[in-house]
Amino acid sequence: MNFDRKALLHAAMEVRKFSYAPFSNFHVGAALLSANGRIFTGCNIENSAYSPTLCAERCAVAKAVSEGVRDFIAIAIVGPEESTTTPCGVCRQVLYEFCDENLIVLCGGTEDHYTETTLGALLPNGFRLS
Ligand code: THU
Repeated sequence: MNFDRKALLHAAMEVRKFSYAPFSNFHVGAALLSANGRIFTGCNIENSAYSPTLCAERCAVAKAVSEGVRDFIAIAIVGPEESTTTPCGVCRQVLYEFCDENLIVLCGGTEDHYTETTLGALLPNGFRLS
């Protein structure tokens, strides 16, 4: 799939600065590319009660779906470390609600250091109500 991977990673890095993570200090940004070329960004938003914490990926999905967009090509995720950050299990399942196995997942790092995989590789046999 042809799209500007660096631009998507850059968008994830930019939104990471809004991350609210006073408890873990683990700041994450995500950028979701829709089929019609829009980019929806999200950051993690933690909470004193811990469990209401929202991951960056689900923040981006919520922004897109709440604007009527449900068709996606790729997501970039950038954590606080040079080493790559991969989506948690809950976010994999939330992505699977709207995307098929072919969704491209870029895990950064930085714009120059990332790994590329697919949702199908990260979540084999994802659950769907049929
Ligand atoms: N987090 C994300 O936002 N996305 C991930 O893919 C992994 C984890 C957040 C949740 C929490 O605020 C912090 O990182 C530590 O788990």
